[in-house]
Amino acid sequence: MSDRNTAEYWDPVYDEGRDWRQVCDAEISMFTRYAGPQPGQKALDVGCGTGQLARCLHSLGYDVTGVEVSAAALLKARARSSALGPRWMQHDIQDGPPPGIAPASMDVVSFRLSFQFLTGKKQILDMARGLLRPGGLVYLVLPVLERETLPAGRRSSALPAARITDLCRGWRVDRWELGWLDHLILRSP
Ligand SMILES: C[S@@+](CC[C@H](N)C(=O)[O-])C[C@H]1O[C@@H](n2cnc3c(N)ncnc32)[C@H](O)[C@@H]1O
Repeated sequence: MSDRNTAEYWDPVYDEGRDWRQVCDAEISMFTRYAGPQPGQKALDVGCGTGQLARCLHSLGYDVTGVEVSAAALLKARARSSALGPRWMQHDIQDGPPPGIAPASMDVVSFRLSFQFLTGKKQILDMARGLLRPGGLVYLVLPVLERETLPAGRRSSALPAARITDLCRGWRVDRWELGWLDHLILRSP
């Protein structure tokens, strides 16, 4: 897994034209139900790829910054978005908070299909907590190893359920399954 957290791994993947599961209406509807977006709130989408979730969050009214280690992904994210859409920033989240993102400034910090690849998961969640305004939330979408519906090809990147439980200690958790992916909303208690 350790190589899947670098631009060297992801740039060629995006150059080949790969992309990921579309954000479906059910995902947005569940997110909206739990997160209750308010106009003017701010979101940081980490590992934003070509910007699928970032654009959805923007359309829900969030002021969105998409952060990505891969320049190739960001080229596509920019090309698919309007000038009034999300801002994009190249940054390795394992190096710490993105430059210019102040502590306690975000209502949402999201990791859609990206968290499972990162090294230092506990520290990254702590960092995300530090970026949240009071009442803010972390949104995780990830594959869980024990799910019967998990495609065989996703096993190598899936997280064991016990590991997720451990990482979520100290958070208040709302959680739902959609297809083979788990969706978690973490809030400070
Ligand atoms: C499977 S893709 C998901 C992309 C997007 N979130 C989506 O749902 O379409 C995983 C993304 O995480 C990004 N990523 C991996 N390691 C990263 C890191 N250290 N810092 C920032 N982004 C990273 C990759 O470049 C890749 O775009």
